[in-house]
Amino acid sequence: MGYGDVEMIDANGIRKDGRKAGDVRPISIELGVVPVADGSCRMRWGTNEVIAAIYGPMEAHPRKIQRQDRAVLDVRYNMAPFSTSDRIRPGFNRRSREISKVTAEALESVVMLELYPRSKIRVEIEIICAEAGTRCVGLTAASVALAHAGIPMTDLVVSVASGKINDVVVCDLNKAEDNYGEADLPMGVLPNTGELVFLQMDGDLSPEEFQEAWDYNMNAAMVIHEYCVEALKTGRYPQ
Ligand code: CDP
Repeated sequence: MGYGDVEMIDANGIRKDGRKAGDVRPISIELGVVPVADGSCRMRWGTNEVIAAIYGPMEAHPRKIQRQDRAVLDVRYNMAPFSTSDRIRPGFNRRSREISKVTAEALESVVMLELYPRSKIRVEIEIICAEAGTRCVGLTAASVALAHAGIPMTDLVVSVASGKINDVVVCDLNKAEDNYGEADLPMGVLPNTGELVFLQMDGDLSPEEFQEAWDYNMNAAMVIHEYCVEALKTGRYPQ
């Protein structure tokens, strides 16, 4: 039996977790969950749970990392050892380095770094519970935590991963769909302009399927943006 043979969506278009193709998993957001940080955010998204905490701007150390004209973002994505069934070895690995790098690049597009020359802003992203799409949840939570810290930004970054399962394009893959599906397309979107600041792709999609997954991600990002704005106004979403 190949990966494509695992049934993940039935004849009526209902996925194993009860969602239709275009549905996003339930999301909740809470701000200020790390009181000692300058800004923080807990995001629950399906069974994913992620905490992002912001420290700074502060003087950048060691001095060799300083930039004369702007601040640097020091982003660290980390999975807690207990966040998945196979224990994650503490410390950086190839995957966490890659995700930290692409997350930093996406956030650099919106944070007004030029306001803080020679400074550093520390962005800590800790995955407490992982159920696929953690790079998306981490990036979205980090952008909300940066806004909560009062760091000037041109926009939030909202990230979603759609993909293909049993030849059907679906929105916001869960873990089984990520593992056994045929393609995965995580994207990071600036909701105010619709610009893209992050895109990765695993597997194959035809141009039409790519467009469908793109549209799912864009539409979901706009909805999730409203949740984020609500949380930033009141401290949490939903109320
Ligand atoms: O989490 P994301 O989808 O951004 O990244 P991935 O590398 O596609 O991983 C998909 C899922 O596999 C994660 O969310 C975890 O649930 C799981 N995973 C794991 O169990 N052990 C790892 N070392 C990495 C990922």
